[in-house]
Amino acid sequence: MKNTDPIQIAYKSLQQGKSLAGLLHKGVSTKLMELLAPDSIPETSEIGKEMLMELKRSMDELEKEDWKDAEEGLYPKRHLFKAPWIEWLKKYPLIWLDMPSTWERRKSQKIDDIPKKIKKENYPQYYLQNFHHQTDGYLSDHSAEIYDIQVEILFNGTADSMRRRILSPLKRGLDKFEGRCLSSMKILDVATGTGRTLEQIRSAFPSIELFGLDLSSSYLKQANKYLNTSSGELVQFIKGNAECMPFSSRSFQGLTCVFLFHELPKTARQKVINECFRLLEPGGVFVIADSIQFNDSPQFAPVMDNFRKFFHEPYYLDYVKDNIDKRLEDAGFIHIKAKSHFMTRVWSAYKPKY
Ligand SMILES: C[S@@+](CC[C@H](N)C(=O)[O-])C[C@H]1O[C@@H](n2cnc3c(N)ncnc32)[C@H](O)[C@@H]1O
Repeated sequence: MKNTDPIQIAYKSLQQGKSLAGLLHKGVSTKLMELLAPDSIPETSEIGKEMLMELKRSMDELEKEDWKDAEEGLYPKRHLFKAPWIEWLKKYPLIWLDMPSTWERRKSQKIDDIPKKIKKENYPQYYLQNFHHQTDGYLSDHSAEIYDIQVEILFNGTADSMRRRILSPLKRGLDKFEGRCLSSMKILDVATGTGRTLEQIRSAFPSIELFGLDLSSSYLKQANKYLNTSSGELVQFIKGNAECMPFSSRSFQGLTCVFLFHELPKTARQKVINECFRLLEPGGVFVIADSIQFNDSPQFAPVMDNFRKFFHEPYYLDYVKDNIDKRLEDAGFIHIKAKSHFMTRVWSAYKPKY
């Protein structure tokens, strides 16, 4: 049947527009790199026509789920359109200006080019790198300002749709605290970055007390600017290492963690999972979203391979082969479930009640 809902048509058009803009940006920037910095182009696997079609199918599926969850009232439909568009538009030229230094770092394989003023002793060694070859790593205001646009381009405009896939398992988990009023509950988003995930969580659970933790002051400042200058309940931001978080045990009913695990060495990955287990109240839910892996999405193995060849992602290969279910089990979690949505896999797991 032909779709006539004007809001759905607008949503589809927005997604198509973002996808085209992402593809166009990548096409032009690759041509430019071929012309100006051919030595920085890594060798990657070819993505054939069939795989492109499979990727498109998977992306369409994501879009359908995103719409369905909004229709069913998990989050308001207007939220599907929400982003700091004008701000992003104004910052877009910075992405182009930043490009030559990214090429240079990729060519010279310089991976520890971080601001000199940073006190290295305050960070784990694995963090002091230029993830994705990005300027200053996660350690400057400049990096925080352009991060969201870079992620949107990387995922052809689907980043927020993928982040929103944590909301349904999160709701299922919180619903289990029957009779408890939402305003007495707390959710922590671990490695919150610039707060895009918290923005999605706040739209679905406007009265729950929200917290965001990250190691980067610059990213937290950006998150604070986006979330705490707009309407909605105050979100509390805390600087800290996810391996050892400054909260008492059993303080949260829900914990989320989006796009962190592929950037951690395996020992840190397990430590973060253990720490999340400690912070949850018994019966609480932990929801992770991160890259798909070889086991669940073998058809996209060349895409995963290309990602790590193109961007500096030192722990990605280990992550895509890792058994996250087992890590969750080892920490004590039960009822572990996982589902893939386009390029993202979402896990939910519970801390036993007794
Ligand atoms: C790829 S970004 C994801 C940010 C955000 N969750 C999102 O959805 O865009 C990874 C984030 O993890 C943070 N991070 C990395 N290692 C961390 C650690 N050990 N403790 C806390 N944050 C960490 C980085 O500062 C960065 O903001």
